[in-house]
Amino acid sequence: AGQSQDDLKRIAALRAVELVRSGMVLGLGTGSTAAHALDRIGDLLRGGDLGDIVGIPTSEWAAARAAAAGIPLTDLAAHPVVDLSIDGADEVDPALNLVKGRGGSLLREKMVEGASRRFVVIVDDSKLVPRLGGSGLPRHPRGESEIEPFVTDNKNYIVDLFFEDGIHGDLQAISDDLLRITDVVEHGMFLGLATSVIIARKDGVVLMDK
Ligand code: A5P
Repeated sequence: AGQSQDDLKRIAALRAVELVRSGMVLGLGTGSTAAHALDRIGDLLRGGDLGDIVGIPTSEWAAARAAAAGIPLTDLAAHPVVDLSIDGADEVDPALNLVKGRGGSLLREKMVEGASRRFVVIVDDSKLVPRLGGSGLPRHPRGESEIEPFVTDNKNYIVDLFFEDGIHGDLQAISDDLLRITDVVEHGMFLGLATSVIIARKDGVVLMDK
């Protein structure tokens, strides 16, 4: 009772951090939910409950937050295989497909999370949707004017697509079609990447596994 959406984000994040073991290579997510996970991992490192952790940030924001939390950073070149990634999402469908990127870092997120043995998604229940795309594929996260294109950490533009009733059809085929367009570097649909989703609701935590 009395739990804010941010409380729920923290609850999901703390549950995910219980999966972290000493010695792991971690994928470090971006956003207000992942922030709780980064802070918690930092606390556990400082307290000596975890050791020998290295993290691969999914954005410049995550790198700064993780550094402030005291998490040693590395990259995919040094560690091409990631043990566990923990990140939020903008939308989660019943098959654990995701929309991500509203924080503007979908390419790095997909690279790190695609290289992970386990990718645990942490959300409050407001992120659950029957169909992806209804609340809009990535839009401007920092309040830029609508006519100013959003430029990512990798200096790419983000173009927003909105589907009033969500995306109908074969998501994998739509993904393939999008990626065949020369100028499209990536898109925000994360299909088949999440190995589990931790959903915090007012009445408790629900775990969805692939
Ligand atoms: C970052 O680019 C996104 O994919 C985030 O994972 C997403 O926006 C979730 O952020 P919140 O946890 O702040 O909702």
